[in-house]
Amino acid sequence: MTNPRILLIIGGGIAAYKSIELVRLLRKAGYVVRCVITRAGEQFVTPLTLAALSENKVYTNLFDLKDEVEMGHIQLSREADLVVVAPATADLLAKMAAGIADDLATTLLLATDKPVLTAPAMNVRMWLHPATQRNIATLRGDGVTVMAPDEGEMACGEFGPGRLPEPAAIKNAIDAALAAAPAVTAMVGQPDFAPANHRPLYGRRILITAGPTHEPIDPVRYIANRSSGKQGFAIAEAAAAAGAEVLLIAGPVPLPTPPGVIRVDVETAVEMADEVRQGLPVDAAIMVAAVADWRAADPAGQKIKKDGSGAVPPLALAENPDILAGVAKSAERPTLLIGFAAETNDVIAHAEAKLARKGCDWIVANDVAADPMGGESNRVHIVSKTGIDSWDRLPKAAVARKLMEKIADELDARSPCQSD
Ligand SMILES: Cc1cc2nc3c(=O)[nH]c(=O)nc-3n(C[C@H](O)[C@H](O)[C@H](O)COP(=O)(O)O)c2cc1C
Repeated sequence: MTNPRILLIIGGGIAAYKSIELVRLLRKAGYVVRCVITRAGEQFVTPLTLAALSENKVYTNLFDLKDEVEMGHIQLSREADLVVVAPATADLLAKMAAGIADDLATTLLLATDKPVLTAPAMNVRMWLHPATQRNIATLRGDGVTVMAPDEGEMACGEFGPGRLPEPAAIKNAIDAALAAAPAVTAMVGQPDFAPANHRPLYGRRILITAGPTHEPIDPVRYIANRSSGKQGFAIAEAAAAAGAEVLLIAGPVPLPTPPGVIRVDVETAVEMADEVRQGLPVDAAIMVAAVADWRAADPAGQKIKKDGSGAVPPLALAENPDILAGVAKSAERPTLLIGFAAETNDVIAHAEAKLARKGCDWIVANDVAADPMGGESNRVHIVSKTGIDSWDRLPKAAVARKLMEKIADELDARSPCQSD
């Protein structure tokens, strides 16, 4: 595609200033950019700055007669290859989900026949509010790509998910959206699986857990493990690239959200179990997270202090929920349920025992004797009731891609996709 055209809608959020950098990146990459800014957006960035950087007229008002003569609002919504909303405010997402068209931005969004990619940005409570989450689910059901916001400290001083993804990440999602095959525009925002446009998991919904869990002992201390989350995130990225709708439930890891993946961050095993339950039903669940077996039975409300006597405080443990076994027994058990096991010795024997104990379909046994968690490669054995498939040591991204091909074949054999 030569000089793809982006219609960039800028909402009224504090992160609107980042749209300036996004326009610069897009122009540098050769995109033609037209900006539309909401009335609230104009409080944060000026149309003049956007016009100078995009080298194009900036549109603000639905009832600007001159614009309607030069360029009608319907034409404006149709002439782009991709409509991008960044930052997408809670308000814009709500209006999009409800089909409200009460200003230029929302009218264009309702009138467009082009794929739409949104990059939300808002206060953490606004993001987590059930109304916003409902709107996002509706938009995704309508085929709109909703990027997961970044997590971190916010302009308002609070901490959590809700920050606008960095402009470079939004540009990557735009690149991926435009690279997507026209036949699968519902999956825009996802990178390509090799070979280009090969999407063996298109139409499938996949849940993935990744990373460690942190189990609080007191407000400043916790029980954790060495899981880096890299393999789980690589699997989420590969699943999205293979065309799946991906829900990634991540323990505390500082990794960026892969393009096209819906991410929910959790801290403890109990929270992870809860999110997994809410994420069902899915076609396949891949439980990569290293979930703590135990948590502090009674976490202290205040920091535990030394009392000078040399006495060590007691630490009673309680058993955490067994997430994998719970999903296996659930009425919404996925067609394919896969567990991961990191082992340092008797890798296959331990994996076979775990397979029987947990009631899942495959255990991906990960030999961590030579290279403990956190490295860039894995040597895995896929253990199932029908046999053992041992792979050479591979980079984690390659393990992920190979696993997606195997999962796609298995799902096709067990339950052919209705969209096939
Ligand atoms: C200083 C300030 C910062 C704001 N930041 C955000 C934000 O980051 N995300 C958001 O959804 N709303 C934010 N708002 C609220 C929106 O501006 C408000 O909901 C507005 O109606 C959004 O309009 P629009 O989305 O149609 O542009 C902020 C408001 C103020 C006063």
